Amino acid sequence: MRAVPVSEGIHWVGAIDWNLRDFHGYETPRGTTYNAYLVSGADSTALIDTVKQPFVPELLSRISEIIDPAEIDLIVVNHVEPDHNGGLVDVIEACPQARVVASPSGVRGVAEYHDGLEIEAVKAGDVIDLGGRTLRFLPMPMVHWPDSMFTYCAESRTLMPNDAFGQHMASSERFADEVGLSLALTELGIYYANILMPLGAQVAKAVAKVAEAGWEPAIVAPSHGVIWRGDALPAAIQEYGRWTEGMREDRIVLAYSTMWGSTDTLAKRIADGIAAEGVDVRLHDLAVSRLADITYDLLEAKAFVLGSPTLHHGMLYRVSGYLTYLEGLKPSDRLAAVFGSYGWSSGATKQMRERLEAIGFEMPFEDHTVKFRPDHDDLIAAEEWGRAIARAVKA
Ligand code: FEO
Repeated sequence: MRAVPVSEGIHWVGAIDWNLRDFHGYETPRGTTYNAYLVSGADSTALIDTVKQPFVPELLSRISEIIDPAEIDLIVVNHVEPDHNGGLVDVIEACPQARVVASPSGVRGVAEYHDGLEIEAVKAGDVIDLGGRTLRFLPMPMVHWPDSMFTYCAESRTLMPNDAFGQHMASSERFADEVGLSLALTELGIYYANILMPLGAQVAKAVAKVAEAGWEPAIVAPSHGVIWRGDALPAAIQEYGRWTEGMREDRIVLAYSTMWGSTDTLAKRIADGIAAEGVDVRLHDLAVSRLADITYDLLEAKAFVLGSPTLHHGMLYRVSGYLTYLEGLKPSDRLAAVFGSYGWSSGATKQMRERLEAIGFEMPFEDHTVKFRPDHDDLIAAEEWGRAIARAVKA
């Protein structure tokens, strides 16, 4: 279990969770990592973040390659969510002389999670000198939780922003340029869409606060996935800029569920209409696509089309489930439209419309419904309905 040098005086000592397949509902086919960093000064040593509780032995084993954990002087808790803070008590046991610090909200969160455990607060402007190597802090509320904080080592120009710039990706490589920039940026986008999308304003503010503080990181070392350095770093910052500014492509995401194939047939004909207008369409059957992938496609899309047949006067449960997923992520400022088949009674499109409008989608299109099985004329109408949405997107 090797510790990996990140920059002068800083080592990655985190853990790799190869088998994680779900992170609070976000599917993670590539697993994840819980990154922790050891910062060594001439006088003292700090551990930035811990790991999910079952991975503490892996963390301590990597730390032991550099220093006896009992000699660690400082533990920084950048974020109290259990994937980073769950192992804190076990780590403190192994590092009995360490002072533990967090943002003021983090102090409260640690006490809540760990039976009143008392730690110290640090605030913006505080500097902890490890001996020729310093740590500075910026609380970053809502990137990802109210307690979130960034830690910066100016001498090594290394920013440790916890969840920001993270990706859920387990790998033996530690840097974005080693796994390949294209893969790293895709996973960065999937993570942003499924974790940070509703917090875009706070993420943009965080990037601005780093610049205002005069921090000029050459390395950004997040708490999940690979580390950004060299040409990969400006590429990642540029992608974050696009997403926080709400950049959109001429793209429509079409998601649906089907009972006996009628809604599936309609979906494919609607997609044909969209494509015929030269607009990028991403079609997802909710029975087979991962919600995280649909949401990633939605990140830069201008419109969302949702389909369901009617069952028991309402939509299918997979459609309702995905709407619940989206309600938290709030992908507003986009067009939406609904369609579906029905048999003896209708109701699904009305339910879907109400839920989408409540999320914040703009819905200028007539709902598109077909009774029982779409015939030749129904399919022509479905294609034209898709074309109309595509034309609105292009306009
Ligand atoms: Fe990686 Fe918000 O925890």
